[in-house]
Amino acid sequence: MITGGAGFIGSHVVRLFVTKYPEYRIVNVDKLTYAGNLRSLTDIEGAPNYVFEKADIVNFEAMRELFARYDISGVIHLAAESHVDRSIADPFLFARTNVMGTLCLLQAAKEYWESRPEQYENKLFYHISTDEVYGTLELTHPEGVELPCAASGAGAHPAYGTDFFSETTKYCPHSPYSASKASADHFVRAYHDTYGLPTIVTNCSNNYGPYQFPEKLIPLFINNIRSRKPLPVYGKGENVRDWLYVEDHASAIDVVFHRGKVAETYNIGGFNEWKNIDIVKLLIRTVDRLLGRPEGADDDLITYVTDRPGHDMRYAIDASKLLRELGWAPAHRFEEGVEKTVAWYLAHQDWVDAVTDGAYVAYYEHMYTNR
Ligand code: NAD
Ligand code: DAU
Repeated sequence: MITGGAGFIGSHVVRLFVTKYPEYRIVNVDKLTYAGNLRSLTDIEGAPNYVFEKADIVNFEAMRELFARYDISGVIHLAAESHVDRSIADPFLFARTNVMGTLCLLQAAKEYWESRPEQYENKLFYHISTDEVYGTLELTHPEGVELPCAASGAGAHPAYGTDFFSETTKYCPHSPYSASKASADHFVRAYHDTYGLPTIVTNCSNNYGPYQFPEKLIPLFINNIRSRKPLPVYGKGENVRDWLYVEDHASAIDVVFHRGKVAETYNIGGFNEWKNIDIVKLLIRTVDRLLGRPEGADDDLITYVTDRPGHDMRYAIDASKLLRELGWAPAHRFEEGVEKTVAWYLAHQDWVDAVTDGAYVAYYEHMYTNR
């Protein structure tokens, strides 16, 4: 069972598992909220080892029924409300989906697996979480500093501080989104510690790539540059995120699902810190080049707007445990991943138009006029 498989990361994970593991039956469970779209999976929807179930993870009876009907032995749980700005506007929804939804799935897995003769043998509940649960780091080196050797990988971009989130960093969430994800992570670990449910948690940094809903920084800005709309940079644009190409996250999930140790936590990251404003400039250069516009043509779209409340300054993941113990490292350099992503969005305007309906546009207009 892959939950949230019609969303951004979930669609890449579903595609990878359906094509790489013909011997598995993949059940994609998704409610199809504004962020879930089956258009992201048209290439694999007819595969014999793939089933889609439209269901709400908060519906406990529906989850119990799905576990029994499909004799589920493994769960990769991605379904969630994922956008920080929306969590500021509607925290209840985030508690409902991210906390109660995770709890319903944990309990359904526990009850079903405990009812089987082999119980927890060869079972796994793998929960996908975020680096945002760790809170924020300081931007102590605004000019950038070389990454420590242990943290070298595909990305050669400098770090903006010398401290990183590790698997033992204390949780300190600041947004309703990260508070709900932190709570879900605690429930997952509690089900392992209390009932012996075989669980793994991974905490990943910012993903980007094809099929990301155009409310997140990178696809929103590609879309706006293309149609020459303002680019709303929060605050001074100095905030730092660690960026990972979505297919690299999917490959990490594959590795952890098959070789990760039960009860462990693994951090997943790109060793690739960027200030928002530098990403915005890179996006403008890339979109303009691919559209044949003159250099600098769209620089004036950059518009500094009121900062996001509680905006975390810097996220930086130390993913060396995953590198050391399971041999995973990101394969894409950022400039290469951004080029692929921009090219994909420019070639798939039909997908963007289909997922951004009137309700979405109205929501955004409301948000910006209220800042
Ligand atoms: P997304 O918003 O693109 O997709 C979420 C999916 O979950 C959608 O298909 C939606 O329909 C589904 N969903 C929402 N509520 C549901 C419910 N009640 N029942 C069933 N399905 C429901 O999210 P994403 O960016 O792909 O993130 C996936 C997971 O990865 C989330 O758990 C998120 O916290 C985590 N994560 C995301 C990032 C990132 O950069 N996007 C980084 C680290 C971790
Ligand atoms: O770190 C992992 C997290 O990354 C995931 O858990 C979340 O699901 C995912 O949404 C993402 O959260 P962020 O808040 O970091 O992503 P977002 O794309 O919303 O913003 C990235 C940065 O860009 C952040 O510092 C805020 C800034 N930003 C964002 C938007 C949408 C802007 O300056 N302007 C914008 O319009």
